Amino acid sequence: MKQSTVYDCSIIEIDKHHHEKGNLSVLENSKTVPFDVKRTYYLYDVPGGESRGGHAHKELRQLIIAASGSFTVTLDDGKVKRTFLLNRPYQGLLVVPGIWRTLDDFSSGSVCLVLASHCYDVEDYIRDYDDFEKYKK
Ligand code: TYD
Repeated sequence: MKQSTVYDCSIIEIDKHHHEKGNLSVLENSKTVPFDVKRTYYLYDVPGGESRGGHAHKELRQLIIAASGSFTVTLDDGKVKRTFLLNRPYQGLLVVPGIWRTLDDFSSGSVCLVLASHCYDVEDYIRDYDDFEKYKK
C-alpha cells in the first residue's frame, strides 16, 4: 500500500450497549473490524510525555482504541499529516498500511488497545523516516 493516504484512515464507531450497570462494546471480525484480527496487544503504564509508535507497516492493518483514558495518534502519509484525539472506548481509528504513526499525550492510566490483521513480523516494519519517504515515492 505504497499509495495509501491519511484519508484512507478513519474513525470507526463500535457497537455500544449502554446499561445502567455499565457499558459494553463489541468488535467482530469482518463486521465492525474490517479485517480478520490475528493479534491483539495493548499499551499501558506509558509515562507522561512519552511518545510511542514512530514507524510504518507495509502490510499490517490496525484498529487503535483508547480502551481507557486518552491519547493522540498522528498519521503521516509522507505528504499530509492528520492528528486524531482518541478518548472514547466506543471509537476505533482504522490505520491502513503505508502510514507513519506516532502516539502521544497519553493520559494517566490510559490503555491503548490495538487489533491487528497479522501476527508480529519485524520485516513488516519501516522504522526509519527516510526509508519511509523512499518507500512512498
Ligand atoms: P514497539 O513496536 O517498539 O512499540 P511501539 O511501536 O508501540 O512504541 O514494541 C515494543 C516491544 O514489544 C518491542 O521489543 C517489540 C515487542 N513487540 C512484540 O514482541 N510483539 C508485538 O506484537 C508488538 C507490537 C511488539
